[in-house]
Amino acid sequence: MNRRDLIKTLGAGGATLAMSGCLEGGRGMAPAGLSPRGAAAGAPRGLHVSLGNDAASTRSVTWFHDGTEPPAGAVLEFDAVLPGMDAAQIQTTPMNLRVPAQADPTPGVEAWTLRATAENIDPERPLRYRVGSQATGWSPVQVVAPTPSGDFRFTHFGDHGISARAQALSRQVLADDSDLLLLAGDLSYANGDQPIWDTWFAQNEPLFAQRVMMAAPGNHEEEDDAGRTFKNRFTHPNPMSSQIFGGNPGSTFYSFDYNRVHFLVTTAGALINDATLPEEILAIETDLALAAARRAAGQLDFIVVMQHFTIWTDQIGRSPANPSLVALEENILLRYGVDLLLVGHDHVYQRSVPMGLGLANPLGYVQMMVGTGGASIRLFDEDGPQSWSARQFIGVGYARYRVEGRVIRGEYLGAPPVDLSDEGRQSLGGDFRVVDSFEFRARGPELARQFARPPRGPETLLANFEAIERHTRERNHHARHHC
Ligand SMILES: [Fe+2]
Ligand SMILES: [Fe+2]
Repeated sequence: MNRRDLIKTLGAGGATLAMSGCLEGGRGMAPAGLSPRGAAAGAPRGLHVSLGNDAASTRSVTWFHDGTEPPAGAVLEFDAVLPGMDAAQIQTTPMNLRVPAQADPTPGVEAWTLRATAENIDPERPLRYRVGSQATGWSPVQVVAPTPSGDFRFTHFGDHGISARAQALSRQVLADDSDLLLLAGDLSYANGDQPIWDTWFAQNEPLFAQRVMMAAPGNHEEEDDAGRTFKNRFTHPNPMSSQIFGGNPGSTFYSFDYNRVHFLVTTAGALINDATLPEEILAIETDLALAAARRAAGQLDFIVVMQHFTIWTDQIGRSPANPSLVALEENILLRYGVDLLLVGHDHVYQRSVPMGLGLANPLGYVQMMVGTGGASIRLFDEDGPQSWSARQFIGVGYARYRVEGRVIRGEYLGAPPVDLSDEGRQSLGGDFRVVDSFEFRARGPELARQFARPPRGPETLLANFEAIERHTRERNHHARHHC
């Protein structure tokens, strides 16, 4: 009996046996895994859009199809929204372009994951698309805004799930327009109960089908077959190292440019069991070395890294963790002058001042810890914030950033819990409001040149890999049992 048959035989009740002890309050309030539109069985569902290899001219679409066989002739159809088109015309005007979809079995459920990438799209106009086939039916036509040519907005949070808190956050993010969603890991909290992923994608389809979303894996993605589900259910660009060596299937670490901002997404060791961490460490070094050189040459303004795990934290019970990998990662961030580190994992909000090695440092990076997607609401430790901490908040919320030339202006919007007791923290006690505002300026040309350094090789970066691997496993084990 294979895993798929086993899950089918056990049913949802049996599958929950595989879950860890990380259930959070409010989880039981989720609906069954039906599309918000009540899509019929067999119709495309769980649509989500990501970037291909170029932010302006490519869009990947991933979706799911229920059944034992892959749908015949499944395609992504797309075209531009032309000026003057009304809503009915957007839905009904035939589309001229189509790409066949790749189909892979979805882990743990009787379904198929389909993906296709539209290339050479009109960078000036919104994209309209639908997925499906004549045989299985089609999704409604969805519209995705074009990548703005200059200034743009992005949104960041992690640690989401399917609770009422998470759904409140999703509604708020949907109402707050932005060009790019960045999800910093711990996404559905399926923890091996694979239909939870379908519920999560269904709950968020109104958001994900129409807005570009890029995700990092967290420790809860490791709990789905060591990240196999993450690799299957998302579509991300392949990094150069994986194109050469063939590692990193499913692109768990990758980078992309969005106008003059370079984004690098890392696993921070979340998927240590897939044995790609050595390749990833080398890829991080070369990627950031190249980005720093391009920034020094005036081609980029900012370098942003997103990953699930924090480098520094004041959440209760979390610090210190994984000293070898954190030390190496921070060394790399500081060496290449990374501007901004977007993280989750700790279910509190904490923004740092520019920092390095645990101290304020104007040459360092700003860590934005936004693990407040609603999975749970946690507390800070009793020692008080460390000297690098600029702002803390307890509740559910997200960060939104506006890139305006060589300045990033941002805000954190949070909703507080009823109170700070274990029970009161399960429910929100107020609306979302701006609880923090901040501004980051691009490094000047002189400083940018100082951070243009040659990449180091494995003899330096992997010299301590045995300890890195051991500490990463210990950290992940701790995260699994203190999640
Ligand atoms: Fe989490
Ligand atoms: Fe986490």
